[in-house]
Amino acid sequence: MVKIPSDIKDSALWKEGVDKIEWARMEMPVLRKIEADFKKNKPFKGIRMAACLHVTTETANLMRCLKSGGADVHLCASNPLSTQDSTAAALVEKYGIPVYAIHGENNKVYYKHIHQVLDIKPHLTMDDGADLVSTLHKDRKPLIKDIIGGTEETTTGVIRLRSMAADKALKYPIIAVNDAMTKHFFDNRYGTGQSTIDGLLRSTNILLSGKHFVVAGYGWCGRGLAMRAAGMGARVIVTEIDHVKAIEAVMDGFDVMPMNDAASIGDIFITLAGNCNVINGDHLKAMKNGAIVANSGHFDSEIDLKALNKLAKKAPRRIRHELDEYVIGTKKIYLVAQGRLINLASAEGHPASVMDMSFANQALCSEYMIKNAKKLKKTVYPVPLDIDNKIAAIKLDTMGIKIDKLTKEQIKYLASWKEGT
Ligand code: ADE
Repeated sequence: MVKIPSDIKDSALWKEGVDKIEWARMEMPVLRKIEADFKKNKPFKGIRMAACLHVTTETANLMRCLKSGGADVHLCASNPLSTQDSTAAALVEKYGIPVYAIHGENNKVYYKHIHQVLDIKPHLTMDDGADLVSTLHKDRKPLIKDIIGGTEETTTGVIRLRSMAADKALKYPIIAVNDAMTKHFFDNRYGTGQSTIDGLLRSTNILLSGKHFVVAGYGWCGRGLAMRAAGMGARVIVTEIDHVKAIEAVMDGFDVMPMNDAASIGDIFITLAGNCNVINGDHLKAMKNGAIVANSGHFDSEIDLKALNKLAKKAPRRIRHELDEYVIGTKKIYLVAQGRLINLASAEGHPASVMDMSFANQALCSEYMIKNAKKLKKTVYPVPLDIDNKIAAIKLDTMGIKIDKLTKEQIKYLASWKEGT
């Protein structure tokens, strides 16, 4: 048997991983359909792919789909705390996919794994947060000549790539999967909403009902979280820097105020703003005894961890799963998942049914890139509308839901401008 290259925690965990990957697969009918098509048409024959994604059961099913399409895909983690070691073991031992990812790896190992994936001299990149693409452009420039194109999964990654494109630093075309309607309307909103609460409960097991629950950032992720927290009886406060989003939060029924005011009111704080120091040292000082602080944005930059450590003076104490107690004078503050993505570090990320659509976008956009890269410039592209519509249509079909079709008369009506009042 060929030895699959890898750097994982423990290959003996593979059986547990297979059971979980197969469980997730049942909720991923769109990806299964794409996999069946890929198996026949082999769009990635001869293509080497470097993927930097959260190593979860849902990602495992995407990797299987790409491999069925003929891709030689190698996977590393897009966050040091999101890797499921049993999933990594199953990918290597059962599905023959090289993986470089260990749960809890330090920054040095995290980047070593990114370099190992880049060592294959990829034709396509698939990224979540843009660490792979940024490393490639900064440290592995000679590899760029072999690259056809790439895809990016998340809001933060798309923002980074747009900055690269604006600086003329981006050297190949990338499709912003995050911006597909079938991605952010569902994954960012319902996925983050549910999985963030899941992570919070696994780490704290607190009752949400009646608690002051501060949501920092009212993008699609914040909207989803505020909606789900309110649904569990929490008293939701939203903080924002964008006037329009702030009005939306008000009209959705939430209290809106600056973090300076919310800091002394909140029982639970969750950041999803995609920025640094959304919760800073002054906010931490103003918080009540027992306040719980967590982040559900891509990077661990949203809570000022340096300030937290400085205020606490002593190292934190681990008291539960991914829950650390900081003593600040006479009060205690609780930090979840070291300020990293709570939904993936404390729980298992978004449920498979929603990742089904996100990863269907990844699969179809990678195929699109192979077919169309020659026509594309070195910039960030939206997901083609027909891919978005196709994914929505398949998802509805697999849910057994039918919808109406425009009649000829309605098509004509929509195309005319003469008829009015
Ligand atoms: N991002 C959020 N949830 C995820 C999951 N379950 N798998 C991969 N990436 C994710």
